Amino acid sequence: RKRLTVPKIRAHKQSGETKEPLVMLTAYTARQAQLLDAHCDMLLVGDSLGQVIYGLPSTLPVTTEMMIAHGAAVVRGSYHALVIVDMPFGSYEGSKEQAFDTASRIMAETGCAAVKLEGGEAMAETIAFLSSRGIPVMAHVGLTPQAVNVLGGYGARGRSQHEHDKIIADGQAVEQAGAFAVVAEGVVEPIAVSLTRTLEIPVIGIGASAQCDGQVLVTEDMLGMFERVPRFVKRYENLAEVISSAAETYATEVRARNFPTSDQTYQPKD
Ligand code: KIV
Ligand code: NA
Repeated sequence: RKRLTVPKIRAHKQSGETKEPLVMLTAYTARQAQLLDAHCDMLLVGDSLGQVIYGLPSTLPVTTEMMIAHGAAVVRGSYHALVIVDMPFGSYEGSKEQAFDTASRIMAETGCAAVKLEGGEAMAETIAFLSSRGIPVMAHVGLTPQAVNVLGGYGARGRSQHEHDKIIADGQAVEQAGAFAVVAEGVVEPIAVSLTRTLEIPVIGIGASAQCDGQVLVTEDMLGMFERVPRFVKRYENLAEVISSAAETYATEVRARNFPTSDQTYQPKD
């Protein structure tokens, strides 16, 4: 199978027939990408790697260099899924020219096909600037983690009429600006449904609705790597337990000199 393209994703819901939802997961490493690739339409190198990989308190300290290193690894590890790389906080909001410099560098140095940025109406001019200059943009509205200091936390968005109207306007603005898809994160379900019904571009939900055109989760969250996860995460595995119990067994065997055995040691030839 050849790699999925941006036009294919954009056209996902334009044929009229009911389509299977698009499948997206985050990936940060080559091996992870290899394992996820066959099952996903899109792999997102999310700036969530700040918390997940680097133990940072939020996505705000994530740098373009980090995104490029992990983005290149994910492109190397995949051949089917469309790879999208997040633009980190501070690397694109200053001006549309700054956004172009960052996005073109990310694309050139990783080989990814598209970038993602957070924001709606405020980013419309930037999205139009990038997408008319060869850079496909996925937008991200609702709960936008880079704006945590403005939003005051990671709670669901859209509970007030004002927030509801703002998020709908953001979705419309990014579509009009030329975004090829939009992530709707942590929004009350009626907003997700209404965005999905009214927008022509695919709406990828996370903490949104089963009616969205696609779904995304942070892979480590759904694999059960963390004790505390948002309510919208479903844990499909308990990898934290698998890893710590393997480490416990290894430590016990090392301390008892039960590892290595003759199976794992080299002897001279006689
Ligand atoms: O950084 C990320 O992982 C994301 C997804 C949760 C959409 O932006
Ligand atoms: Na992100």
